Amino acid sequence: MNSETIHTHFAEHFNGATGTIYAAPGRINLIGEHTDYNGGFVFPGAVEQGMMAEIRPNGTRAIRAYSIDLKDYDEFSLDDEQGPKASHFRYIFGVAREMMKRGVKVEGFDCAFAGDVPLGAGMSSSAALESCFAFAINDLFGNNAISKMELAKVGQATEHIYLGLNCGIMDQFASVHGKAGQLMRLDCRSGEFEYFPWNPKGYRLVLVNSCVKHELAGSPYNDRRKSCENVVAAINAKYGCKAETLRDCSWEQIEGVKECCSETDIRRATFVMGEKDRVLAVCAALEAGDYETVGQKMYETHHGLSKDYEVSCEELDFLNEVAKECGVTGSRIMGGGFGGCTINLVKDELYLPFVAAAKAEYALKFGHAPKVYDVVISDGARKL
Ligand code: GLA
Repeated sequence: MNSETIHTHFAEHFNGATGTIYAAPGRINLIGEHTDYNGGFVFPGAVEQGMMAEIRPNGTRAIRAYSIDLKDYDEFSLDDEQGPKASHFRYIFGVAREMMKRGVKVEGFDCAFAGDVPLGAGMSSSAALESCFAFAINDLFGNNAISKMELAKVGQATEHIYLGLNCGIMDQFASVHGKAGQLMRLDCRSGEFEYFPWNPKGYRLVLVNSCVKHELAGSPYNDRRKSCENVVAAINAKYGCKAETLRDCSWEQIEGVKECCSETDIRRATFVMGEKDRVLAVCAALEAGDYETVGQKMYETHHGLSKDYEVSCEELDFLNEVAKECGVTGSRIMGGGFGGCTINLVKDELYLPFVAAAKAEYALKFGHAPKVYDVVISDGARKL
């Protein structure tokens, strides 16, 4: 999707009018999965695939929205409590309402939007949509007074309140703060972050999309989060402390509440504790140019996500095995899990044989080919 196409649709639906065009990307995450809502570290970067919207204030209290991809149109009032039913419009409604809560004098607007982030691939198409509109509303109605981190929180609150998904901050953070050629290590407890140049000479990142679609809101994502919270509550009760997340807890404390928690909850908390350490190990390895260690940590994460956190599926485990057999440096599930992509750290010379093997072997086993995307680390939300 490019800005000319967006404009053609916008003009067609809104009497030849012209608005302002905004864009925001999806994201990859090198490592640090299911750590964000546990106050841990994540290591994402924005990608070139994203969402784009043309927007023009219309002088009313209504949002008139056209989804180009779904060929779907709806109108809804900013002052309505319920908002639209379809999720693609609820994201826009939720973002507008959350911006209003933060003091922005949002007015009605006409908009047409589209994107090229594959849906349900674990690349955060919804965060891209939220960030695009949060950024746009801040620019059009808010004098850009809302900080970038708060824009990310607007997207996250939209997921929680309007879509029922209790996600962490990683996806919206990455979509808003992304920079071309830079990964970001975010400490989700303090909100501090650092850019890390991503220039892995001799290696590249490749996503392999199983094309198994997950619907995170309807999936056990919230249930994973609950497990972690159960363990934190048990630790607070036993040790009389005030830990907010697993980040504030120690390995010893987890060991100490084994008897008062379910085996499943403890296993999940153990994964999160290990994942927190793996992000830091990957950062150190990257600084030393040690890509073998980066890759090894990725395999460890996959194993934990699959066996301990249980967010994998047959297709993703299969793709991970193919990567291993091909000698790929690192491979793991990316994002929330339950389908979507694996992210693979591949030596340049292995790229073609790996992609060919993944496509052929996957098609043979599951009857359809996976999709492959080369990762290009790109800029975050912006006005075009
Ligand atoms: C989804 C959520 C994120 C994060 C990841 C798992 O993408 O939206 O907040 O929890 O899953 O790391």
